[in-house]
Order: sequence, then structure tokens, then C-alpha cells
Amino acid sequence: MSKPSPSRRQALRASLLLGTSAGLAGSALGKSEPTPSQTEGPFYPDLDNDLTFVSSRKERAKGNHLYVHGSVRDTEGKPIPNALVDIWQTDHKGIYDHAGDPKQKDKDKNFQCYGRCVTGEDGTYHFKSIKPRHYGDEKFQRTPHIHYKVARRGYHELTTQLYFAGEKLNAKDGLYKKLSTDDQKLVTVDFQPIALTDKSVQSKLKDTFSESEWPEGITVGQLDLVMKPVS
Ligand SMILES: [Fe+2]
Repeated sequence: MSKPSPSRRQALRASLLLGTSAGLAGSALGKSEPTPSQTEGPFYPDLDNDLTFVSSRKERAKGNHLYVHGSVRDTEGKPIPNALVDIWQTDHKGIYDHAGDPKQKDKDKNFQCYGRCVTGEDGTYHFKSIKPRHYGDEKFQRTPHIHYKVARRGYHELTTQLYFAGEKLNAKDGLYKKLSTDDQKLVTVDFQPIALTDKSVQSKLKDTFSESEWPEGITVGQLDLVMKPVS
């Protein structure tokens, strides 16, 4: 039997490869039972950027309402669009939405302890929330803070916390004290009344949260975040 020509060899190889992949595809994509769906469970939170309102409830969360916004940029100062920004925090009584928290039953059920948004083309993000309360004791004191996690392909995931300027307990918080003075400045935010906020920010907040009027006493703070690219 004569040797197959190079073009025939290629054709044979291609047909073998096709046969193999077709077999795999057959087992992977053939008739299968659909995965059963299950309820999201009582602890599954809304995951939008308005933490002051839970979709299944009628009233807004208690506490001092605030907006927190900012930009996500790379180390060159370039905005990072489509970055996923997650935040989580306590309610106005210092209680997390965490099944292991013994105070869970006292949590403000109208407060959505988690929030999520995706940065726009200009790299900005916006949340509406409340000021969290301190928790802990003399041994482990936590000053009011908001947890952040930011993710975007091509960058190292960033996990950090926002602190409130002028908070007396900042000086007693072990995690805050661990930061250098310069680093503290990068994550400490001075919340100001909405009237003192830049008009362009007011306009963006009004659109984002469909505000017909500003919630009473609401303040605004800005936390800009910088992500390190994966080299
Ligand atoms: Fe915390």
C-alpha cells in the first residue's frame, strides 16, 4: 500500500480529530437533565448599588444616609471601565448580614448590607448607603468602615476599607492604625452635605438613583481607587 500524500495525511488527521472532538461534544452536549433550580435562600441579598432599599420591603433603611462614589483607575491614572465594585458593611446598629452574628435577629431588615456596581466608561462608581456603626470591644475595636472589593481582568484584585474622617474611634482601630499616615489618607473620606458637592456629581447621583429630591441630611463622600495591573 502506498503512503498517503501529505495532503491526504492532513485530511485523515483532520477527520480523526473531528471524530474525536465530535465524540466529546456528543457526550458533553448530548441529552442531559437540566440542573435543578433552587430558591436563592433567605440570606441572598439584593445586589444593586442602593443599599438603603431592599426590593422585598417597603421602608428604607434607618441611619444617616450617604452617597459614596469615586473612580477606579490604573497606576497611570487611566480610568478602568467595567470593573466590578463590591461593598459590604454593618447596618446603623453595627450588625452585619451574617448568619453567625448572634445579633442577627436585631438587624435592620430594610438595610441591604451588600452592594455591587460596575464602573462606567469613565471608570466611576456610585453607591447609596448609610453610615455603618462601630462594633467590637476594647480588645478588638472596629471604627465605622465600609469594606470594598474591586475586580477586573488584567488587574490584581483590590480589597480595602473606607474610613470616615473625624471619627474618634479611628485612633483605636487596630487595622486603621496598621496603615501609614499616608495610606490612611488614601482610604479616609470626608463626607460633606450634598449642597457642598460638585454640581456634576449631584447630577450623576440624581440620575443614577432617580432622586426627585435629596433624602434629608444625606452626605456625599468620594473614594478613588487605584488598581495594579498584572504584569
Ligand atoms: Fe468589618
